[in-house]
Amino acid sequence: MSNERNRQSWNALSAFYQRTHRISLDDVHYGPYSPGEKELQIIGDVKGLDVLELGCGGGQIAVVLAKWGAKSVTGMDISDEQIGYAWELAQEQEVEARFLQGNVEDLSALDDDSFDLVVSSHALNYVENLSQVFAESARVLRPGGCCVFCFGHPLYYVLGDALEAQDLSLVEDYFSENRHTWDWLDDQRTPIATFEQTYWRLDQILNGLIAVGFRITRVEEPKGYSLAQIEEQGFDALPYIDEDFASEEAHRFIEICTKIPFSLIVAASLTQE
Ligand SMILES: C[S@@+](CC[C@H](N)C(=O)[O-])C[C@H]1O[C@@H](n2cnc3c(N)ncnc32)[C@H](O)[C@@H]1O
Repeated sequence: MSNERNRQSWNALSAFYQRTHRISLDDVHYGPYSPGEKELQIIGDVKGLDVLELGCGGGQIAVVLAKWGAKSVTGMDISDEQIGYAWELAQEQEVEARFLQGNVEDLSALDDDSFDLVVSSHALNYVENLSQVFAESARVLRPGGCCVFCFGHPLYYVLGDALEAQDLSLVEDYFSENRHTWDWLDDQRTPIATFEQTYWRLDQILNGLIAVGFRITRVEEPKGYSLAQIEEQGFDALPYIDEDFASEEAHRFIEICTKIPFSLIVAASLTQE
């Protein structure tokens, strides 16, 4: 039910999202105002690899991986609208990539042992059954294959709103298993669409990967760039920015992300047998 609601909401949001966010076509992003793959080097060399991206949205990351020499790139997303943008982008950027509409909890359209790398950035907090995504990822990966998954950091979920509003009553319960329902607001602060997310705890992510045969190889909690660092390199050099980056609200967000991480990146590899 919740996946269907998120599908409809991403369909409703997609045009606004693609218009108001600038996502790099030259780097893989791991969230707003923070270092991307070129700086962090988590995915590494993708030349010659068959890559699958889960929750590929408008296809920006898939396009970058194709430009970096992946042998094949497949993106999957639950939103038909987002998938439409992804096909257009790949064509416009003249890269080979294919995009499938679907829920990433079910990768049955893809063969066992058919990928070397599965990646995902800021999509897996939307799914209802993370263990199923991990099991499916393990199934489609070849022995020795790797995954790099970037989540919303649970610390940001617990403290972010409270710090933004300077209101301790907004601190969230880390241990709550509840799905969190929230509205995406437009420039006039009018709700555009309602989403459901789970802020997976660290133990759910790490133990979930281990349970299906992954070995954790790296965990990153990138510190966001300070405003001074961003101004020095220029907003346009960042892998992911929001259109309202000059607003007071964005500056408050940027400051908070220098104190608590917004993203949690976990890399893992399948044990070879
Ligand atoms: C914040 S966007 C991120 C998109 C892309 N990874 C990026 O970084 O630009 C989240 C994406 O996850 C997709 N999504 C949400 N739930 C999904 C699910 N169960 N299966 C596949 N995609 C899903 C949404 O449609 C949306 O495109």
